[in-house]
Amino acid sequence: MPPLCINAPMVQVETVKWTGGPDGVLDLLDQRLLPECVERLECQTPHQVYEAIRTLAVRGAPAIGVAAAYGVCLALRNKPADAPLEESKALTAQTALYLAASRPTAVNLFTALNRIRDLAQTFEGSTAQLKVALLNEANAINCQEQQMCRDIGRHGVPLVPDGGAVLTHCNAGALATTGIGTALAPLYLAHRQGIRFTVYADETRPLLQGARLTAWELTQAGIRTVVVCDSMAATLMQAGRIQAVFVGADRIAANGDTANKIGTLGLSILARHFGVPFYVAAPSSTFDLSIAAGSAIPIEQRHADEIRCLNDKQITPPQAEVYNPAFDVTDAQNITAFITEHGILRPPFSTSIAQTLSQQKVHNE
Ligand code: MRU
Repeated sequence: MPPLCINAPMVQVETVKWTGGPDGVLDLLDQRLLPECVERLECQTPHQVYEAIRTLAVRGAPAIGVAAAYGVCLALRNKPADAPLEESKALTAQTALYLAASRPTAVNLFTALNRIRDLAQTFEGSTAQLKVALLNEANAINCQEQQMCRDIGRHGVPLVPDGGAVLTHCNAGALATTGIGTALAPLYLAHRQGIRFTVYADETRPLLQGARLTAWELTQAGIRTVVVCDSMAATLMQAGRIQAVFVGADRIAANGDTANKIGTLGLSILARHFGVPFYVAAPSSTFDLSIAAGSAIPIEQRHADEIRCLNDKQITPPQAEVYNPAFDVTDAQNITAFITEHGILRPPFSTSIAQTLSQQKVHNE
C-alpha cells in the first residue's frame, strides 16, 4: 500500500452547520457565490431554508436532506417551552411537508424529513423536550451522512487508478454532503494515501457545479484538476485518457437505475462504448427501494433562464424555447458498480441492492 501522506490537505468545508441550542440558527455555505466569494447564509426560518434549497445555495442530495432536517427545527425556534405539544407537533408535520416541496428528485430530502416527522408524530413530553429531540435527530442524520461519506471513501479507494485519470460530473464532493463527499470521497482518501491521479471535471451546464464547485474543492486539496466542457468527454475517452468515471446520485431505484445530474446518462453510454468503468458512489440514504425502476423517479424541471442567460445576459433569441431538466436517469446496465458505505455492489443490482439494503429502516414512503 502506498505511504499515507499525512501532510496532504483534506477538504475542509462546512456546508451545513447548526449554531446554538434548540433555538439556534442554520448556517449554510452559499454555493451560488462560489468560487468567487466564500460567504455564509444564516437561516432563521423554514422559509429561508426552502429558498436556499430551491435556489441551490445548498445543494447535493445528502446536503439538502441534512439542511431540511435542521429547517424543521427552525419551525419551533423561539416557541415558548410550555406551548401546547399538539400544536408544536402539528407545526413540525406541516413544516416537513412544506420543505419536501423544495426539490423533487433527491430522495435524501424525503428520507430525512420523514425521519423528523416520524419522531414528532410519536413524541410524548413537552414542547421544550420536542425541540431538543428534533435537534438531536437532525444532528444524528448529519453525523450519519458524514460517516457514510468516510466509509464510501474507504471502499472506493482501490478503484482509483494510480497514475491514471478519472472523470466526474457535477459536484458530488464535500459541498454536496456534510462530509467528504460521495464520488469525491475515494479520491480524497486515495490522494492522502499517495495515489497520484488527475481528475477531469465536467463543467456541468447549465449551473456549472463542476467548473465552480468540484474544481474549487479538489484544487484546495491539492488534487490535479482539469475542467472540461461537457461535450469533451467522448474525445477524452476515445483517446484513452480516462480510466474510470466516478459520479454521485440523487435517487437510485431498486433495480439500480440512477438519477443524477443531467448529462450523467450520456457519460454512462460513452463509458460503456469505450470500455471505461462507470462507478456510482452513494450512501444508503440515496437508495429508494419503493421505486422499482428509474422511469418512476420524478425529474425536476428548472427555470428556462438558467439556460437562456449567462452572467445575467440573455444568450438565446427571444423566440427560442428552452428545455431544462435538472437530472437524467442512467440505466443500471451502464453502471459497473455502486460504491456504498456497506461496500461495493456489483450486478445483478436487483439482488445486490436488496441484499445489502433491505435491512435498513425505510423512511421514504
Ligand atoms: O442540482 P444539484 O447541484 O443539487 O445536483 C447534484 C447532483 O446531481 C449530485 O451529483 C448528486 O446530488 C450527488 S451529491 C453527493
